[in-house]
Amino acid sequence: MWTDLFTFNSSHPAQIVGWVIVGGIMVQVGCWAGGGVRRYVFDRRRIRLEQERLTLDIHAARLRIQSVELARSAWNGIRKFTVSQKVFECDDTYSFYLKPHDGKPLPSFKPGQYLTFQLTVPGSAKPVIRCYSLSDCARPTHYRVTIKRCPPPAGSSHPPGIGSSFFCDSIKEGDILDVKAPNGHFFLDLEKPRPVVLISGGVGVTPMVSMANALIEAGDNREIWFFFGARNSRDHMFKDYMAELVAKHPHARIHVCYSKPLPADVHGRDYHHESRVNVALFKELLPSNNYDYFLCGPGPFMESITDDLRAWGVPDSWVHYEAFGPASVKKAAPPEVKKSLNDAPVAGIEVTFSKSGITAIWDSAYDSLLDLAESRDIKIDAGCRAGNCGSCLVAVKSGEVEYLGGHGADAEKGSCLTCICKPKGKLVIDA
Ligand SMILES: Cc1cc2nc3c(=O)[nH]c(=O)nc-3n(C[C@H](O)[C@H](O)[C@H](O)COP(=O)(O)OP(=O)(O)OC[C@H]3O[C@@H](n4cnc5c(N)ncnc54)[C@H](O)[C@@H]3O)c2cc1C
Ligand code: FES
Repeated sequence: MWTDLFTFNSSHPAQIVGWVIVGGIMVQVGCWAGGGVRRYVFDRRRIRLEQERLTLDIHAARLRIQSVELARSAWNGIRKFTVSQKVFECDDTYSFYLKPHDGKPLPSFKPGQYLTFQLTVPGSAKPVIRCYSLSDCARPTHYRVTIKRCPPPAGSSHPPGIGSSFFCDSIKEGDILDVKAPNGHFFLDLEKPRPVVLISGGVGVTPMVSMANALIEAGDNREIWFFFGARNSRDHMFKDYMAELVAKHPHARIHVCYSKPLPADVHGRDYHHESRVNVALFKELLPSNNYDYFLCGPGPFMESITDDLRAWGVPDSWVHYEAFGPASVKKAAPPEVKKSLNDAPVAGIEVTFSKSGITAIWDSAYDSLLDLAESRDIKIDAGCRAGNCGSCLVAVKSGEVEYLGGHGADAEKGSCLTCICKPKGKLVIDA
């Protein structure tokens, strides 16, 4: 009988019924098994998504805690720091590792921010105030800044920069420095997930290293594109360090541009492009223009890149930049802004410097009120000349000023940062 059942015979009704029953059972089992597999796959995916969401929530909570800590432990005024290490990076460039002298906790900071130093330089009648970007992400024990000696302008007989030379030549391990808390509006917001392009020339790489390190430390896997410009290997700071950084991140790429490679510099080993960093390179290499762009470098370098990014259709709100020192980025104003600037009666405005008893006429040829003051030999303290350190703050006695860009230092009400503002109308300031 059993052998009959497995030997197909269409005229045997019991056998047909048997096959129908077996077939039905198999379909049921198949459906159940298929549904089970689908449910299993679905559950696995749900669990994975929940885990990812949890990781992001934990990360966001950590960032919130960090920013609360930052607000709580940042200090007012000056705090003493000991130079725990001074490390040679490349020609005329050193990194300084700074530990709080009071041994108390160190506040976190946002990657891209800077420290302000009040230096006592022999021969200078007043403290020399200078800003230096933090060149690492926040660490619990120390800060790091990296400083390049500022050379005299080409062809001039002026001495090299006071502050940077003081750091390179005189500051040594064990010295104590006066430092203001981390500050600045140029930073990478780790809570925004957009991939980033970090563009720098020369010592402008310092905030970019801080940003890349912060992303790596946070386990943030967004795309990172590094474009770094130097003249040649002599100026190529953080060469090995940056290669190691990129190797630690699954979606980081680096492109090094040398404008004047040395005979010993090897294409492919030391650098990737014999050119300056430029937007044509981004168009060639980036899959789209859909990134946040962070720029830091010499003024003309940043001006040309910001203008070309705009021409490529990148919205201004995706482009973030920091000017090191007096060079400020003068973006080509969009047509409607140009019109209103042309309409504004900027020429012929009277500016009175009340302490000096001098009245000068503002003209748009001046970069700022500080520039106008200096042209009349009126002394106003200045450090960064970029609205960051607060040293050029002067009280406004009457009238109003207009700021030429964002600034990191706080301008108290009734005062102005003369390095980055101009008069709106007749003005009297306390200088
Ligand atoms: C937010 C911010 C972050 C920064 N981060 C960094 C950083 O990470 N690393 C870094 O290295 N720098 C950084 N800088 C730049 C730094 O703050 C200083 O501007 C830089 O070190 C030059 O300062 P200095 O005192 O050496 O030069 P200064 O003494 O101010 O001299 C500047 C230039 O003027 C020339 N000069 C000297 N005398 C005269 C004269 N009589 N007439 C005309 N020119 C003269 C000098 O040769 C030099 O070229 C940053 C700046 C800012 C605003
Ligand atoms: S000089 Fe630093 S804010 Fe003006």
